[in-house]
Amino acid sequence: MFKSISIGKGSKAVSVVCVFAEEGRKRGKSPAAVNELHALGRETPGFKSEIGETLAIGDRGVLLGLGKIESIGAAGFRKAGGKLVRALDRMGLRSAMLHLPTNIPTHDQKKAKIDIERLGRAFGEGLTLANWRFDLFDGTATRRTAPQAPLSITSSDADFNSGLERGLLLGSAANLTRKLGATPPNICHPEWVVTTARKIARDNGLKIKVIDYKEAQRLGMGGLVNVGRASVSKPALVILSHTPRRPAPAARGEHLVLIGKTITYDTGGYSLKVNNGMKGMKYDKMGGMAVLGAMEAIAQAKLPVRVSGVLAVAENMVGGDAYRPDDIISMHNGVTVEVTNTDAEGRLVLADALSYTCKKLEPTAIVDVATLTGGVVVALGHFSAGYFCEHEALRNRLESASQECGEKIWRLPLWTEHRDFMRGQHADLINSNPMRSAHPIQGAAFLSFFVDEKIPWAHVDIAGVDSVERDNDLYVQGPTGWGVRLLTDLAEGFTRRGTRGASA
Ligand code: BES
Ligand code: ZN
Ligand code: ZN
Repeated sequence: MFKSISIGKGSKAVSVVCVFAEEGRKRGKSPAAVNELHALGRETPGFKSEIGETLAIGDRGVLLGLGKIESIGAAGFRKAGGKLVRALDRMGLRSAMLHLPTNIPTHDQKKAKIDIERLGRAFGEGLTLANWRFDLFDGTATRRTAPQAPLSITSSDADFNSGLERGLLLGSAANLTRKLGATPPNICHPEWVVTTARKIARDNGLKIKVIDYKEAQRLGMGGLVNVGRASVSKPALVILSHTPRRPAPAARGEHLVLIGKTITYDTGGYSLKVNNGMKGMKYDKMGGMAVLGAMEAIAQAKLPVRVSGVLAVAENMVGGDAYRPDDIISMHNGVTVEVTNTDAEGRLVLADALSYTCKKLEPTAIVDVATLTGGVVVALGHFSAGYFCEHEALRNRLESASQECGEKIWRLPLWTEHRDFMRGQHADLINSNPMRSAHPIQGAAFLSFFVDEKIPWAHVDIAGVDSVERDNDLYVQGPTGWGVRLLTDLAEGFTRRGTRGASA
């Protein structure tokens, strides 16, 4: 695949002619050569112009199908971008000039206005996401492919190109998250995450503060300290911040805080994961990695809104110093917790991060992202994340961000009954109810005890979407970088007035 993707037209750019299915023969204003390619494609038996379908016409150009005109939308363009990048790689082409159809409709079937920039953005996301491979650990037994070349791509439409640029930025940030995610736990341990976060902060002009193990002990962060104590690499709380000099009028006074569960490895602790259930638990850091990727994207896009990212970093191990089921621990806000299950560790580290955020960072909205429960996968599968939010304006913001980027979220309830379910006999709370029901909600209910009621807060459980087990149109097997685009779009929503900008 390509070493990098950038916007521009190389000297040997191949024409990529984009065609809708059932477009008819009339082509209007396109150059004759484009019309000719188009006609050749129509005459080729078997080419149906399905989304992302490609057809090389000798060395004269490539046709790219866009599917049915009535189903036009960002999802289709994202998929088309993904399929195109893999086809260009197979064909050995390194520079492409896109010719968009001349008859892109002004409105879609739901009567929503078609925004060319949005289509370009989705296309750029598809290009970068589908181009990603993880080769950091290719050894001498890996069959070598030709040295990687860069790809340059552009179109004749300025709006499409500006969308493309944003799409490439977002896709690259998601790919950073995926690279960190795929890094194995013998390398990616808590101290490595801290060093890496410092480097990302330096490269992107973000401020960074690290609360190390000693300070976390001094601050009474019993969740973070106890979960991480048995690892040789000690836990930490990392805080990155993006503070624009001049926030957008709609974002004045706003401070969005994104919090990520960053368990570099989850053995389950003494409530050990059995039957190979531990395999894949290097992905238990994907919430935090998504926050890191989003912070990079927010900084690079220079979004005019104040945003902080908080990573609760620990490794959940066993050992003579490990916390145990039956321990009672005291958290940053003074709430006490009886540990009923050391495998419900994510909520313990997040609880301290939430409490610290509310007390010290003056947030106006908080969103935490976590691979918190296997239960959310049982409930929703791998199709969407589950989320909890009892605050209407923040809910609307999240829903419109999700619409924008195509990362699906589905809301689950969080009631007083659920909160009461987490109360303990010997301490204020238990970290997991032995009744074993409503696990994703138990997690959210537990966390709610650590958030100031006046601050809008959402919890997003990404255990079903953080990685894929099989290759698909956009992702190869492995981490997806889910959340980078959602969180960046959420932040961008704060910079706009109108329906999306309703005060959170
Ligand atoms: N990291 C896991 C959740 C998880 C499970 C993520 C499978 C991805 C795939 C989390 O720390 C955990 O172990 N949760 C337990 C909670 C239970 C002990 C209350 C679970 O979901 O079983
Ligand atoms: Zn666990
Ligand atoms: Zn976990």
